[in-house]
Amino acid sequence: MNTEYGITVIIPTFNEENNIASIIHAVNSSFSKSGISGEILVVDDESRDETIEIVRNISRKCGNVRIIVRHEDHGLSQSVVEGFKQANSELFLVIDADFSHPPELIPRFYEEIKKGHEVVVGSRYIRGGGIRQWPLKRRVLSLGATGLGRILFPEVTDPVSGFFAVKKEVVERAPLKPRGYKILMEILGKGRWDSISEVPFTFSDRKGGESKLSLKIILEYIEQVLNITKYSIDVRDNSVWNEWKRLSRFCFVGLSGIAVNMGALYLLTEYSGFYFLTASAVAIELSIINNFIWNDIWTFKPPENLSPHRESRFHRFLSFQCVSIASLLINMGILYSLTDFLGVYYMISNFIGILVVFFWNYFVNRNLTWKLQPFDRGCEEISPEDFN
Ligand code: GDD
Ligand code: MN
Repeated sequence: MNTEYGITVIIPTFNEENNIASIIHAVNSSFSKSGISGEILVVDDESRDETIEIVRNISRKCGNVRIIVRHEDHGLSQSVVEGFKQANSELFLVIDADFSHPPELIPRFYEEIKKGHEVVVGSRYIRGGGIRQWPLKRRVLSLGATGLGRILFPEVTDPVSGFFAVKKEVVERAPLKPRGYKILMEILGKGRWDSISEVPFTFSDRKGGESKLSLKIILEYIEQVLNITKYSIDVRDNSVWNEWKRLSRFCFVGLSGIAVNMGALYLLTEYSGFYFLTASAVAIELSIINNFIWNDIWTFKPPENLSPHRESRFHRFLSFQCVSIASLLINMGILYSLTDFLGVYYMISNFIGILVVFFWNYFVNRNLTWKLQPFDRGCEEISPEDFN
């Protein structure tokens, strides 16, 4: 097996003579600064400028720099996948040649992988990230694409990023259909992974040059989203499917909570002589406890390699309790404002309130109460003496 290097940085290029030498230099200095043993793999689609010559010259001097020139089926995603196949390491990182992605962040990606994440995404949309020099049209389109991608991967704020790292095992057997620019979506949809992490970065556009975005690319992207959805339904055991599974379990548990609530309200009022409002408060609390238990042991049961961020069940319960109380208030707020200010029929307001609260509840609990992290094997805590 080829495991010569700790990481392979894949740089897809097409006519990048102005950038390629500097980006290779920048990637190499990020290696030496952080002590990572890395290789650089340039994947070129028959550039018509000096790109290929320049890289060949560099690789004569730097043993860790290689170039592959592809002669068929040109395209960014195809080139990235070719890079995966030719890499001499177990970890791949993809970066643009034009300095849109800051190479000095490479060690951050590497660290995240070492923490146990299988995919690390450079994100423009988390705190600390951003976009420089983009025309409004491109920003709007990109947000649309990102929004659509987030329906499939709610955990990933930037599923169309071109700056990411992925472990070999994630893509090794994935039936990728590389096309267009959004190879990451394809990997997230068809690769095998449980744990992802994001690193913020500021995307800066190359000076000059037109974006190649056209209606055709947009339609292709929608087709890709549908294809990934279909794949997840056919194959099941993947992250999109797992998300839908969690969501429907959460819904199911919610329905059981309604049954508990109604049952308790009835029993307490009829047989224990509670005033019905007091009984209702007790019934609500019972349904919260019911929902917590089922969500904890069933809906959000962690896969083997992950463990809950909140280790104690009691802390998870407190978190769930707070979110539930907030939900109640939000539901009432929506009911009140839609009905009183906008004159919506109160049953419709209530229904809208329930829907909003359901999704809010799901996402907040998923990311707060049952947030997962790579399973900590605690190796760092063993000192060398322990082995003697
Ligand atoms: N091998 C190969 N083949 N490389 C290509 C091709 C191709 O057909 N087309 C572009 N590239 C290379 C470029 O040389 C550059 O290194 C990188 O791929 C990105 O191409 P750009 O043309 O600069 O992309 P962009 O700035 O419009 O798009 C960026 O933003 C997207 C997110 O909105 C890229 O970073 C994408 O990767 C990213 O998805
Ligand atoms: Mn670019």
